[in-house]
Amino acid sequence: MTEEFHRIRRLPPYVFAEVNKAKAAARAAGEDIIDLGMGNPDSAPPAHVIKKLAETIQNPRVHGYSVSRGIPGLRRALAAYYEKRFSVSLDPETEVIATIGSKEGLANLAAAITSPGDTILVPNPSYPIHQFGFIIAGASVRSIPATPDEDMLRALHRAVKHSVPKPTALILNFPSNPTAFVASYDFYKEIVAFARRENIWILSDLAYAEIYFGETPPPSVLSVPGAKDITVEFTSMSKTYSMAGWRVGFAAGNPRLIHALTRIKSYLDYGAFTPIQVAAVAALTGPQDYVSDIRALYKERRDVLIQGLHNAGWDVPPPEGSMFAWAPIPPKFADMGSVDFSKLLLKEAKVAVAPGLGFGEYGDGFVRLGLVENTQRLRQAIRSIKGFMSRHGVTPLDPKEADPAKKRS
Ligand SMILES: Cc1ncc(COP(=O)(O)O)c(C=O)c1O
Repeated sequence: MTEEFHRIRRLPPYVFAEVNKAKAAARAAGEDIIDLGMGNPDSAPPAHVIKKLAETIQNPRVHGYSVSRGIPGLRRALAAYYEKRFSVSLDPETEVIATIGSKEGLANLAAAITSPGDTILVPNPSYPIHQFGFIIAGASVRSIPATPDEDMLRALHRAVKHSVPKPTALILNFPSNPTAFVASYDFYKEIVAFARRENIWILSDLAYAEIYFGETPPPSVLSVPGAKDITVEFTSMSKTYSMAGWRVGFAAGNPRLIHALTRIKSYLDYGAFTPIQVAAVAALTGPQDYVSDIRALYKERRDVLIQGLHNAGWDVPPPEGSMFAWAPIPPKFADMGSVDFSKLLLKEAKVAVAPGLGFGEYGDGFVRLGLVENTQRLRQAIRSIKGFMSRHGVTPLDPKEADPAKKRS
C-alpha cells in the first residue's frame, strides 16, 4: 500500500520546483524578484472578448454542461482561421475539435492513441507535456534534436532504423517552447514525406502560431499537401489572445485522430464553459488588431532584452518566435548546469528564470527567459544582471554585434 503508484513513479521530480521554492522564499523575505521564469501572458484579453463573456454569462441557459467537442460555431471559427491563415480546408464536423486548452488535448490524444510500450519521438528539450503525455500513457520516449534542420531529419531516420518497436508518432512544436526555433515550410515538407513513408503520426503543437518576429508567419504542417493523412495540429487561444486561464484550445487535421480524441474526451469532460466558448468565437471572428499589437509588444520586449543582455556580456540569440529567449548559460558559469545557475541568478540578481533542464536533459546548458514583464521591469532586470555579471568579472560584449534581427546560426 505504501509503494508509489506506477504512473506517478514514471514522473521525475519537478525540476522547476527547486527554483520556485527559492523564488517563494525570496519573496516572503520581502525581496523584489523579477520573474522571467513563467510562460504566463501578462496582458488582458481583447476588451470585446471580455464583454462577450460578460454578456453571455447573463443568459440562464448557458450554465449547464457544454459540448465536449466544442460548440459548432467555435469549430467553424477555427476552420475559418485555418482557411484564411494557412489556406488549409478543414471540415468543422470531422476535422476540428475544441479542447480545454491545447495541453489537455495533447495529453488526451496521447492517451487515446498509445499502446503500452509504443515508442514516441519527442524533441529534447521540449514543453514537458510533449514527453510526459505519452509517458503517462505508457509509451517510451526517444529523444530527437529540437532543431528544425538536417540534425532532426538524420535523427528521425536513425530512430526508425534502430527503435524497437518502430516509432508510432512524432511531436513537433515550432515556434518552440523553450527554444523559440521556428520551422520553415520546406522543413515540414521533408518531415511529412518521411512520416508518410514510415507510417508515423505527426502531432504538431502550434500554440505560438501568431507570436513571431520575422517577416514570414510560421507555417502549419497541415499546409503541406497530404499532411492531413497523418497529422493533427494543436492551436490555442492562450497566447494569441492572452486567454491562458480561460482554457480553450483546438486540435485539427486527420479525422481518425480527431475522432479518437473526441471519443476519449466524451468520456472525460463536458467541454469548456459555454460562455467561454462563445467569447472564443468572438475572439477568432472579431477584429484582429489585438493580435498584431500583442506581437509588437513581445517584439519590443525581445529587442530590449536581447540588446540589454548583450550589453551585460550575455550573448543570447534573438528569438524568431514564441514568448521566450533561450539563453546559453554564459561561459563563465557553464559548468554549474541550469538549476544552480538559475538559483545563483535569483540570489544575486533577483531575477527568476526557468532552468533548461526542466525541458529535458539536452536543455541543461540553457535557461529560458520569458517576455512576460513590461519593458521597464525588463530594463530593471538587465541592470541587475549587468551588475551580477560584472561582479563575476564578465564584461560587456562588443555593442556592434548586438543585432536583435540576426538569425539563429
Ligand atoms: C508549446 C506549448 N504548447 C501548449 C501550451 C499550453 O497551451 P494551452 O494553454 O492551450 O493548454 C503551452 C503553454 O505554455 C506551450 O508553451
